[in-house]
Amino acid sequence: MHKTHTTSFLKWAGGKKRLVVLLDKLTPNYVDRYFEPFLGGGAFFFYLIQTRKPFKAFLSDSNPQLINTYRVVRDNVKELIEILENHQKKYYKSGEKYYYSVRDNTDANQLNIQIRNNTHSAAEVAGRFIFLNKTCYNGLYRVNKIGNFNVPHGRYFNPKICNKEKLMECSNLLNRSEVDIRCDIYKNTTTKCQEDDFVYLDPPYFPVSRTANFTDYTKENFGVQEHAELANEFDRLNDIGAKVLLSNSNSDYVKSLYEKYRILKVKSQRNINCDAKRRSDHHDLIITNFNRNKKINNIERTVVKGKNKKIIVSTTIID
Ligand SMILES: C[S@@+](CC[C@H](N)C(=O)[O-])C[C@H]1O[C@@H](n2cnc3c(N)ncnc32)[C@H](O)[C@@H]1O
Repeated sequence: MHKTHTTSFLKWAGGKKRLVVLLDKLTPNYVDRYFEPFLGGGAFFFYLIQTRKPFKAFLSDSNPQLINTYRVVRDNVKELIEILENHQKKYYKSGEKYYYSVRDNTDANQLNIQIRNNTHSAAEVAGRFIFLNKTCYNGLYRVNKIGNFNVPHGRYFNPKICNKEKLMECSNLLNRSEVDIRCDIYKNTTTKCQEDDFVYLDPPYFPVSRTANFTDYTKENFGVQEHAELANEFDRLNDIGAKVLLSNSNSDYVKSLYEKYRILKVKSQRNINCDAKRRSDHHDLIITNFNRNKKINNIERTVVKGKNKKIIVSTTIID
């Protein structure tokens, strides 16, 4: 059975938990400086930091609420836990009603204003962010044009809003070596890359269908033009000798952007309690400018969740 690692404290749309073992196989043997400029829930970072020798990490994302939360987890986890325990108590009492009262406090969406005006501490803002992440529909993060969070309430039975052990572990991991956490667009982070740095790019996926659009993470969208610009940045990083790994949707457009690199088409499957009906399939493209000839085998691992839930995660390389 696969060794269990601490996973992210967030549930994140487009999160890469199911791919971490494969991504690790494609990672250089020695990592000195690691860049992850589309951080989201940071599934791969949390995996790497537990499986590799200490390295310097540059983590960033354009979502200010998300980055504030990472910083609070790293620097002030005890206060955050108290705040989350309080949210949990209130939520268990009045559920949906409490969710909407927290979500629709519109002033609380304006992160900079509230911290600047001292109306809420950074820890309170992070507490609200994690509370909404654990109780909203599918852990989605979506805001309207004026920046207010607008995801409806999810349907969970007593969700664990304050997972004290996990928050403490993630805090320790973020303190383990030098970790720089910034709110910025990806280009302002990748511009710091040098020869031999390892860069993992996991942008909002290029939509494969009209309905599959996960680009609403922030107010800005990530469309055809942005994907083309990112491919140019990939080329620039390749030219300076950085080692780059990128994940994206399985689409002809993405393949056309990266045709000079190694492209792996990957199918991941989650089979819950070996029940064929409860299976979910997912296709991704993994693109790298190094390890071009390394043979990558299919992966199968069992993840045990709680007392009775067993998930078989398999990753198959299609071509
Ligand atoms: C697919 S998610 C990353 C998921 C992450 N790898 C995980 O495992 O949870 C993409 C992330 O990119 C961020 N993002 C969107 N546009 C961006 C930009 N221009 N620069 C930096 N980050 C951006 C979003 O806020 C989102 O968190």
